[in-house]
Amino acid sequence: MSNNKVGLGLRREIALEICDIEDSRPDFLELAPENWIEVGGYWRSILSRVAEKYSFTAHGLSLSIGSTDPFNFEFLKKIKDFLDEYNIDIYSEHLSFSTCDNAHLYESLPVPFTGDAVKHISERIRTIQDFMERPLVLENITYYTVLEAELSEAQFFNKIAEESKCKVLLDVNNIFVNSQNHNYDPRKFIEEIALENVNYVHIGGHEATEDGLILDTHGQKIIQPVYELFNEVIRELPDSVPVMLERDVNFEDFNDLKEDMSEIRTILDSSSVNV
Ligand SMILES: [Fe+2]
Repeated sequence: MSNNKVGLGLRREIALEICDIEDSRPDFLELAPENWIEVGGYWRSILSRVAEKYSFTAHGLSLSIGSTDPFNFEFLKKIKDFLDEYNIDIYSEHLSFSTCDNAHLYESLPVPFTGDAVKHISERIRTIQDFMERPLVLENITYYTVLEAELSEAQFFNKIAEESKCKVLLDVNNIFVNSQNHNYDPRKFIEEIALENVNYVHIGGHEATEDGLILDTHGQKIIQPVYELFNEVIRELPDSVPVMLERDVNFEDFNDLKEDMSEIRTILDSSSVNV
């Protein structure tokens, strides 16, 4: 049996179901602190109920680590207090920018894979890690346009992790989606990225459009090629690394989520047998 924990995203649509679930329970839940920090009343009481049964990881939405905008430390203090209140060690974010001139763009947009961006982002990561008093865990995002690049995406991650001592959230579905949209071998990314920096994994579903573009929707069941990629990468990682199933929409059939979690566990168990 594998020791890897398998988690699920805490969404309001499934919060009550998650509280009452008897079999195939997730081992932990991931939440976006921004969605909960200033919530009171009914939803705060639901969060308290969920917290009695599960531990949490955090996946932030608004840090905009790749931006040139100054950080909002007043807001970040609220996030830090939330992480402390719920004993959350893993604070992950996207390696992207989502603000410009202090306007929120509500998208995770790609940063150029350049040496200047490595320096700029590493400095900002160090500031955040000092403030948050925990490592920042940065995720590889999906992107639909490629900006100026001096480095490959994996090299870019490696240099940032080296300079800032941040950790990496490896999203296996995002590797697959980008490889299809930008026509490269996803295994090359895995071979190139320094896996010793990875302390958290995401996996999820996506949507293929008729014109061939793949959208990172987190709304469908995981497809076999993504499981195969996951199977390959998880064998290279220690079993202390938690794995989170992402689902943001389409919650009509909770059995879909249970089936995906079950398949993830099957792969984890088979990988631990072969270690
Ligand atoms: Fe993700």
